[in-house]
Amino acid sequence: MKDTSPQTIYLSDYTAFGWTIAEMHLTFRLSPSATRVLSRIRFEPNPDAPQQPFFLHGEELKPIRAAIDGTEITPEYSAQGLTCAVPDGAFTWEAEVEIAPAENTALEGLYMSNGMYCTQCEAEGFRKITFYPDRPDVMATFTVRIEGNEPVKLSNGNPTASGDGFAEWHDPWPKPAYLFALVAGDLVNYPGSFTTMSGKEVELNIWVRPGDEGKCAWGMESLIASMAWDEKVYGREYDLDIFNIVAVDDFNMGAMENKGLNVFNSSAVLASPETSTDANFERIEAIIAHEYFHNWTGNRITCRDWFQLCLKEGLTVFRDSQFTSDMRSPEVKRIGDVIDLRARQFPEDQGPLSHPVRPESFQEINNFYTATVYEKGAEVIGMLKRLVGDDAYAKALDLYFERHDGQACTIEDWLAVFQDTTGRDLTQFKRWYAQSGTPHLSVSESFENGTYTLDFTQSTPPTPGQPDKLPQVLPIAVGLLNPNGDEIVPTTVLEMTEATQSFRFEGLSARPVPSILRGFSAPVVLDRDTPPEEKRFLLAHDTDAFNRWEASRDLGRACLSAMVTQGSAPDTAWLDALERVIRDEALDPAFRAQMLALPTQAEMAQQLHAQGITPDPDALYAASEALREAMAQRWSGWLADLRATCAVDAPYDPGAAQSGKRALGGALLSLLTRLDGGAAAQAQYDAADNMTLQLGALGCLVQAGADTAALASFAKQWQGDRLVMDKWFALQVAAIAPDSAVARAEALTSHPDFDWKNPNRFRAVFGALAMNHAGFHTKDGSGYGLLADWLIKLDEKNPQTTARMCSVFQTWKRYDAGRRAQMQTQLERIAARPGLSRDVTEMVTRLLS
Ligand code: PHE
Ligand code: ZN
Repeated sequence: MKDTSPQTIYLSDYTAFGWTIAEMHLTFRLSPSATRVLSRIRFEPNPDAPQQPFFLHGEELKPIRAAIDGTEITPEYSAQGLTCAVPDGAFTWEAEVEIAPAENTALEGLYMSNGMYCTQCEAEGFRKITFYPDRPDVMATFTVRIEGNEPVKLSNGNPTASGDGFAEWHDPWPKPAYLFALVAGDLVNYPGSFTTMSGKEVELNIWVRPGDEGKCAWGMESLIASMAWDEKVYGREYDLDIFNIVAVDDFNMGAMENKGLNVFNSSAVLASPETSTDANFERIEAIIAHEYFHNWTGNRITCRDWFQLCLKEGLTVFRDSQFTSDMRSPEVKRIGDVIDLRARQFPEDQGPLSHPVRPESFQEINNFYTATVYEKGAEVIGMLKRLVGDDAYAKALDLYFERHDGQACTIEDWLAVFQDTTGRDLTQFKRWYAQSGTPHLSVSESFENGTYTLDFTQSTPPTPGQPDKLPQVLPIAVGLLNPNGDEIVPTTVLEMTEATQSFRFEGLSARPVPSILRGFSAPVVLDRDTPPEEKRFLLAHDTDAFNRWEASRDLGRACLSAMVTQGSAPDTAWLDALERVIRDEALDPAFRAQMLALPTQAEMAQQLHAQGITPDPDALYAASEALREAMAQRWSGWLADLRATCAVDAPYDPGAAQSGKRALGGALLSLLTRLDGGAAAQAQYDAADNMTLQLGALGCLVQAGADTAALASFAKQWQGDRLVMDKWFALQVAAIAPDSAVARAEALTSHPDFDWKNPNRFRAVFGALAMNHAGFHTKDGSGYGLLADWLIKLDEKNPQTTARMCSVFQTWKRYDAGRRAQMQTQLERIAARPGLSRDVTEMVTRLLS
């Protein structure tokens, strides 16, 4: 039975499960349409839990048999699970169920992807495999037997036995059911090994479909780097004899941290220079690290309930960003993270989907794997670390691992280790977990008798369910420069706790120029009427790379805003200041590439909306084009020469040095294409021996409208490679002129390779459409209509991916009445569908509220 009933679950209703489980025994008899799952579980009464009826989760299972202490019983089944009478003391539960992995298109539970069996259990997918208390605070060791003729049969933990048609695994570490995994199929392994800090040898494998072995080297290198980093920086050692990674083509998310058996979307692990861009390599490195780091922050210490999701996700994102900073450039990583936060988390927190980092209620937990839980959750940890300092952070983490290893924890437990190690009262800081919305921070200043004063005011606009906000603890990193550009006060963290608060700097000989919120030390919107000449001064002189970038980004936003609202010409004073940075060959090319990127149209829409102006997507597109054109013309004298300095004449390497050069070269090529109609791009395309250069050139050709031949040749070259073809689908929809975007997306849905049930392919087309801002928001509403048609269609097969894609409508209230009405109509049309999934019902209800 399918459960579509919307039911709200509350954090405040938490109660412990009435029994504990020492060990879980599972046997799988694999068959595509009739897999049998046998379970044997020893339950013991949980002395810490209130009296309750015995209930096991179970959804879409065909019960075959159930027994208690060897006696057959007939439980009472519902769409959510079963209940039955149980003995007072300990007892042994046995059950057999039948499931049909080949028919499972939701990609949750046990399903099939290209003939291979695999599982996805987080958050509540285990209940689609067998009857079980499917909640993270019930932890047990798992012993698993897999029967089937597939050559490779994997599960969590260590292999204990195998033979003709079977394999057995035992995981000695107690874990919740969401970390269970099983994979079986015709797979080949790319092997590796790692010796841990205590000298234990760990066998490593990346399992792929035959033919993909050549795309595993980078994943393996990244895994080994991650294992070494977690030992060095956090003192965390791996704890099994074997660590397996599997690449799966059909996967709803990026990857999953199942104990000892991480399952990856193939796009998040497979890479080769010919088929993957620098950005792909960097993302793979980060995701491998993220999933590996979960072994301690997520698996050894897990979440008590799903409201605590940020306990593992915020911390693990924070850890993977520290890792990337160490492997690459911390400044470039920070700027990239803030771009991402503003592009994905700010719209969420400023619209109808806004929720706290730790939500207090939900209907479908899958809808809360959000930028707020992940990225804002990581920002909160960054603030905490800044407030207590690096040493105290390290001490608190040591205590966290020592005190909570093997437990299912809460945010209260997490904060307590900081309180206990530092003596700090974190009551007010905890509001970051409970209060939703993006705080606004405004600042004014004065200078008198050598004393410089900054007056700050904070306030957070109302969000759904939270009309009134309290002041938050804001770490505000500030530095002061004197008028000749020297830093006179190095970065100092001001700790703001009140709604309004002043900070004084004494003994200054001249009025300084402040650099505020260095490193983006708190996830807030900073409102400050900074004069443009001061921003240009910071762009030229700030010692903080983030604020240098921010000054330019601010000037860019102001420039575009003046162009659309007042018809102004591009700000040439800004462009000239920017030119000096971009041409400064002493600076990191990756940083210069970030400086060259303009604010996106979606970012501009957000900015205008915040200023009380209704954004016009067509005007924003026209202004961005005009500004790019102006840059190309103004800089025509040196673009080609500077691009020549970005050439790499060493064998391809995905590391920071080469990829930074290619990023800058790519940004310059895009401007050059405006001058030469695509000649340089075509030459780069023809000569490219790696995907970064090939795809970058193709993007320029699409933008220039000179793409027909190149798109065809690209498709011909790569038609057998799914991951490259995803790029082909996405690029043309994202980069095409907006007036053709909807038609192109629609045409691609009839392409023979448009396998819409594959989440990567679906997202390639429709995620790209949403990224083509003016194209998606085409005035006639055709973009909204097309997407809604496909969301309705996909929901019948895959509610999770559908629900996640619904969030592209989250900014709908920002736009003009016509567009707003059209988006509302489409959302209502989706909402009215009979049989709509619980996932999508919750999303559209929140979007419309
Ligand atoms: N826990 C996974 C991760 O971060 C994400 C995920 C959630 C994957 C739910 C699948 C399903 O790292
Ligand atoms: Zn995670």
